[in-house]
Amino acid sequence: MIPGKTLPQLGKDPLSKVIAAMTLEEKVNLVVGQGMCMSEIPPELSQAVGQMSPVVGETHDQVPGAAGTTYSILRLGIPSLVVADGPAGLRISPARPNDKSTYFCTAFPVGTLLASSWDVELVNRVGQAMGNEVLEYGVDVLLGPGLNIHRNPLCGRNFEYFSEDPYITGKMAVAMVNGVESQGVGTSVKHFAANNAETNRNSLNTIVSERALREIYLRGFSMAVEEAQPWTVMSSYNLINGTYAPESYDLLTKILRNDWGFRGFVMTDWFGGSDAVAMMNAGNDLLMPGNNNQNKAILEAAKAGKLDIKVLDKNVERILNIILQSPKINGHKFSNKPDLKAHAIVARQAASEGMVLLRNFDSALPLPAETKKIAAFGNTSYEIITGGTGSGDVNEAYSVALVEGLQNAGLSVDENLKALYEAYLKTAKAGRQGSRGFMMGSVPVAELSVNSDIINSIVTLTDAAIITIGRNSGEGYDRKDGEGDFLLTPVEKEIISSVTSAFHAKGKKTIVILNVGGVIEAASWKEIPDAILLAWQAGQETGNSIADILVGKVNPSGKLASTFPVNYKDVPSASGFPGKINGQTQPQANKEPDMMAAFINPQPAKVIYEEGIYTGYRYYTTFHVPVSFEFGFGLSYTTFSYSNLKLSSTKFGSKITATVEIKNIGKTGGKEVVQLYMSAPGKALDKPVIELKGFKKTRLLKPGESELLSFDISGKDLASFNSPLSAWTAEKGVYTVKIGSSSMNIKQTATFTLGTEKIVKKESLALHPVEKINELKPR
Ligand code: BGC
Repeated sequence: MIPGKTLPQLGKDPLSKVIAAMTLEEKVNLVVGQGMCMSEIPPELSQAVGQMSPVVGETHDQVPGAAGTTYSILRLGIPSLVVADGPAGLRISPARPNDKSTYFCTAFPVGTLLASSWDVELVNRVGQAMGNEVLEYGVDVLLGPGLNIHRNPLCGRNFEYFSEDPYITGKMAVAMVNGVESQGVGTSVKHFAANNAETNRNSLNTIVSERALREIYLRGFSMAVEEAQPWTVMSSYNLINGTYAPESYDLLTKILRNDWGFRGFVMTDWFGGSDAVAMMNAGNDLLMPGNNNQNKAILEAAKAGKLDIKVLDKNVERILNIILQSPKINGHKFSNKPDLKAHAIVARQAASEGMVLLRNFDSALPLPAETKKIAAFGNTSYEIITGGTGSGDVNEAYSVALVEGLQNAGLSVDENLKALYEAYLKTAKAGRQGSRGFMMGSVPVAELSVNSDIINSIVTLTDAAIITIGRNSGEGYDRKDGEGDFLLTPVEKEIISSVTSAFHAKGKKTIVILNVGGVIEAASWKEIPDAILLAWQAGQETGNSIADILVGKVNPSGKLASTFPVNYKDVPSASGFPGKINGQTQPQANKEPDMMAAFINPQPAKVIYEEGIYTGYRYYTTFHVPVSFEFGFGLSYTTFSYSNLKLSSTKFGSKITATVEIKNIGKTGGKEVVQLYMSAPGKALDKPVIELKGFKKTRLLKPGESELLSFDISGKDLASFNSPLSAWTAEKGVYTVKIGSSSMNIKQTATFTLGTEKIVKKESLALHPVEKINELKPR
């Protein structure tokens, strides 16, 4: 048979004809990925993977370092799709054997920083730049963005995710998906769903109510699907109410497709799920990275009539539909030369937009013009952390340390102090006990304890001190509620105190920079330094972006998209996190997780979401629990006034528009993040005191300038998920619109009424909890 003459070809002939021409074996090959190239599998995983007999596939031949590929069927014109991580930028190998070229990608700021920008246009621009690298390096689908909720500050992958709030999560995801996909490549929104801890991630059974699922853990995904229709969704490792996410028909068919209208395909997380046939039936179309056992199981089930061929055909059709949109099908010739310089500019701008000024006593920042020389303390002033570890890490060409950023901004740093840190870091790293592997990255070097004689000698030689506190975490493990992680170490606290008092004694200021991927404890030390800048993990340009803010080139406008609690025990999910095995709480790992055991012989673990819908600020505001820095909080070098809140009506029909005027009443140009919260009657169903229902960032307003912002409020914004009815319902009564500069700083309020109860949307009956949950309720 001459290919192309007598056989239907994908893209040229109707899809139904192409599918009809596929053999059963070809269909099965298409729904099972082509495995991972052995050299790309971390050594600690290779034995486990070996036991699962992976197909050693085409990843290496196509784009080395990509996470996986699909099977190509050239006789029918079906090319292979290449998929690669991840949320902070494309992750591929930077070098290839016998090839002098480099394949670096841009390390953009992590998801948590992007959300703190509250700027959907900016996130869309970051997405465009990322998507362009995906396209130009010959990849078809980017495995991101990650949109799991920050249920607990210790989740090791929070840095990849956006927020504790589903609304901002959803808006960020929409912006990112649209940005990446504007380049003609796809995204995979992940990890669907309720994957909020890393400990025992392959076996954790999440027990959660339908209401908490719909309102908190699924909401961001539903917005992403309904508003941006991503090419693919990645199912998560965990079980939800007793069923593996990739095996859950309720999740992947009833909710994702029937309720939300998803049109793309679903892939598993890597090696996720247990029963290949159940995954096909559930609507998990592609098993990644794929292995021979899965292939065999699906083939046998199909032959024995245990897997309906119509189901398999549907899985195949969904994958082919996406391949039809891919750059390959249109014969795109990728350049392998994206404009990394242009993308570095995007990364730098985005980073400074999402940094949050937490403290600024006596206008310590921006640094006054006479500041010339800085004393830079803290290991991470010299070795900045650009992003987290694991699949969310990027192979970038360079990263700008804080001291380099300061120097680029025309400041000098104390060279003796620099030499001291560099020598210390060199020795400490040389003496380090091996690596903790790809997932956990290197063992952090303990903070250098600088003695008071050195500090005192440096004070007279410098104009201000900067102390950087660094933290890292990543895939496969959770953070610890202890010193060196959630808490500062005694040495870190001591440096903050002694440097501040030495500098204050000479009338000079101290600034703390938090180079962290997630929330830490700050209440016990935040009053000591003059200023605190939360820089997050800001990608390869971190040092330059921090310096832009310190010298006042950029006026900070980021605000927190997750709360900083006073103590870890105040977190509503603290007591049950990260889950239990046989009723025993699991300690967070301090060593590389045992991936082999996790994949081959997962221990059944369970977590119960007893806090229900009361995550993050929903809990702190409703239960009157004081926090260290509240959701939505962030300072600026200028101040804004809020006035003239107007509603288009005081009676709700199908929509209300709220407008409010924001004016820069300070002395410096700046942008303000304006938040719209709502309080519902909360009589029929209990409700959080406030919930975020809208946000906008102003343009750069010059002193004296103002902007009128408008927000649309729809029926969905009034509604809660009413589990007995399996519907979103809005109860009648008085609703209050609260416009604030943070969740605890409400500037303007107005009310409207809903005359009769409204059923806003019916949903499928799905994911009913398998056991009774003793859910938290306001008193
Ligand atoms: C991670 C995913 C990632 C995949 C491919 C998994 O271990 O959980 O987020 O996309 O690997 O690298």
